[in-house]
Amino acid sequence: MSAPKKLWIKTYGCQMNVYDSERMASALAAAGYEQGDTPDDADLVILNTCHIREKAAEKVYSDLGRLKPLRAAKAAAGGRMQIAVAGCVAQAEGDEIMRRQPVVDMVVGPQAYHRLPAMAERVARGDGPQIDTEFPQEDKFDHLPEAPRARRAPAAFLTVQEGCDKFCAFCVVPYTRGAEVSRPAARILSEARGLVGRGVVEITLLGQNVNAWHGEGPDGGGWGLGELVRALATIEGLERIRYTTSHPNDMDEGLIAAHAEVGKLMPYLHLPVQSGSDRILKAMNRRHTAEDYCRLVERIRAARPDIALSGDFIVGFPGETDQDFEDTMTLVRSVGYASAYSFKYSARPGTPAAEESDQVPEAVKAERLARLQALLAEQQTAFQASCVGREMPVLIEKPGRHAGQMVGRSPWLQAVHLAADASLLGRIVPVAIETTGPNSLAGRLVG
Ligand code: 5AD
Ligand code: SF4
Repeated sequence: MSAPKKLWIKTYGCQMNVYDSERMASALAAAGYEQGDTPDDADLVILNTCHIREKAAEKVYSDLGRLKPLRAAKAAAGGRMQIAVAGCVAQAEGDEIMRRQPVVDMVVGPQAYHRLPAMAERVARGDGPQIDTEFPQEDKFDHLPEAPRARRAPAAFLTVQEGCDKFCAFCVVPYTRGAEVSRPAARILSEARGLVGRGVVEITLLGQNVNAWHGEGPDGGGWGLGELVRALATIEGLERIRYTTSHPNDMDEGLIAAHAEVGKLMPYLHLPVQSGSDRILKAMNRRHTAEDYCRLVERIRAARPDIALSGDFIVGFPGETDQDFEDTMTLVRSVGYASAYSFKYSARPGTPAAEESDQVPEAVKAERLARLQALLAEQQTAFQASCVGREMPVLIEKPGRHAGQMVGRSPWLQAVHLAADASLLGRIVPVAIETTGPNSLAGRLVG
């Protein structure tokens, strides 16, 4: 048998990319590639890229520059390093990448990962650079083997839908990931059962617009994400269910009711609003008002009073005035977030907002972002502090940095540090919370 070929993957951006990278690695394992943790001497390097904001795309080009000498060293030693660019930058700028960086052998969009082994073979044969950014009708996951779960990780991701039809004016996702496609319920349920069979107790359903998921139930009826969650909750051994990321307009009654009725559905929801100004929301093509969002939050909280909310915000969208920004601050104060992500608007080529003439100056964006982040940090600190003195069920996920320490997850997605034995890995145990940091809690095992 020939020696395994060396594979190195760098993953940028979202959880969807992390999941896709795992699936690419397992498809390539079948073709004789073994994943390593450095690009030195690799036979195949994959940059699984993100295009959502400017900096993410720029990093890809600088990383490609850094790979050049490694590629040359490998060639000097008589070998060959193939370089593939995958993910959303590949989808959006495939031809340009090939032009700007001739070291790139392959450009592969998110819907074509199952064809990667064949592409690598064609490059090795001397067929020249390969580009595949087609959006096929088939489900790529039908052709990608499940990622092997070498470490007995008790929490796993499961992609249930990809793509987005919302076309928010700032966002590249509808162009790079394509139209919304939901995976069939039966496949999702069987993949979930497989994961649970291998020791998984918590599953996070993934999708760019996850609550737009829709499918057909075993009874032939139309299912929304709420029904899918209910079906998953019947799987014995699966203890926790989460989903991310959601659009407010797709939070339907069924899903809200699931938050009230399905104990396994965790009390944490990432529900981006982007702005608190109706004028800006309209310009963003969000198709809801600030009040719609606040009323929705009230309904969700009525269903699950202890739910923790998280959000995404963009400051400095074209045309955003001081008053628009103050409206965002007002919304944040009235909703109250347990955690949140906030960004300066960055113009993405090909999106409608990038064409607007009234772009906000960088300095104004920076000042607004600092004020918003200070408010969000204050709310996060308050939420963390409210956990001290409480007892909560914690899923033990991995060993901590110090001997005798383990790290787990609270129902509200906080990391929890505690003194515990490694034999508790994968168990849900009661923990009394004693102290907090900005991003984690610490406590002791009860009983
Ligand atoms: N500029 C800044 N932030 C953006 N996001 C998406 N596109 C842009 C952009 N052009 C943010 C949104 C989204 C999150 C994933 O990234 O807040 O919810
Ligand atoms: Fe992008 Fe989310 Fe809007 Fe879809 S809903 S266009 S993924 S920001």
